Amino acid sequence: MKTVEYSALIDATKATLGRIAAEFSPAVFASSLAAEDMVLTDMILRSGLPIGIFTLETGRLHNETLEMIGRIKRTYAYDVALYRPQPEAVEAYVNANGLNAFYDSVELRKECCRIRKVEPLGRALAGKKAWITGQRRAQSTTRTELHVQEDDAAHGMVKFNPLIDWSEDDVWRYIRDNDVPYNPLHDKGYPSIGCEPCTRAIQPGEDIRAGRWWWENPESKECGLHVVDGKLVRIKSA
Ligand code: ADX
Ligand code: SF4
Repeated sequence: MKTVEYSALIDATKATLGRIAAEFSPAVFASSLAAEDMVLTDMILRSGLPIGIFTLETGRLHNETLEMIGRIKRTYAYDVALYRPQPEAVEAYVNANGLNAFYDSVELRKECCRIRKVEPLGRALAGKKAWITGQRRAQSTTRTELHVQEDDAAHGMVKFNPLIDWSEDDVWRYIRDNDVPYNPLHDKGYPSIGCEPCTRAIQPGEDIRAGRWWWENPESKECGLHVVDGKLVRIKSA
């Protein structure tokens, strides 16, 4: 994996965000409120770029994660838009399978993610020209083929991953240098943070996504936000 110098990474990422705002409006940024996404949040809000920021509030996030919404408001005077699952879909799933049925099979896990994340994502992206994520290549075996700009045919728009070349160290350097608020769970052994019942702390030396859906194989560890019909969407735009 190629490494890019820190200052060049910042310049390139700011340039990408500026291009998205200028050429792909309306564009939105999907923030999980974790460290990578706070880097992009800081860059977007400090520059006053016209890119909306939303979070899929699944109903199963940690309190520490939910508290980031208020911290963003206090730091940047910005209200992150929240998209929640349809209550009747959640109720039907829980009645049929149980509240934590995602531990029982990959199918039931994916169905929970579909109801709590994928369907609300569709609403968040409706009418947009582009969406942005905080994915990095180094995060997982499923992300080594990412591109900065991709065609997301499933959503009928362009998808941007401006942080693909950033290392974990680059992310933390930016957060410290710029005094960016971050989820305190990162200091408690959680490099990657998703829903509370599907995320756990890792031990030093473990893979950074080892605490996500830890009971599943690495190949299945994507929630459907970045996967369509079982395939990762990896078609590079011209
Ligand atoms: S996941 O697919 O395994 O859940 P991960 O937590 O690594 O993803 O986050 C990758 C990117 O997906 C984030 O940078 C963000 O753009 C998007 N994302 C993940 N979870 C959410 C969420 N709850 N709300 C909005 N965007 C999210
Ligand atoms: Fe459900 Fe877990 Fe997916 Fe969250 S990460 S939507 S709790 S299966």
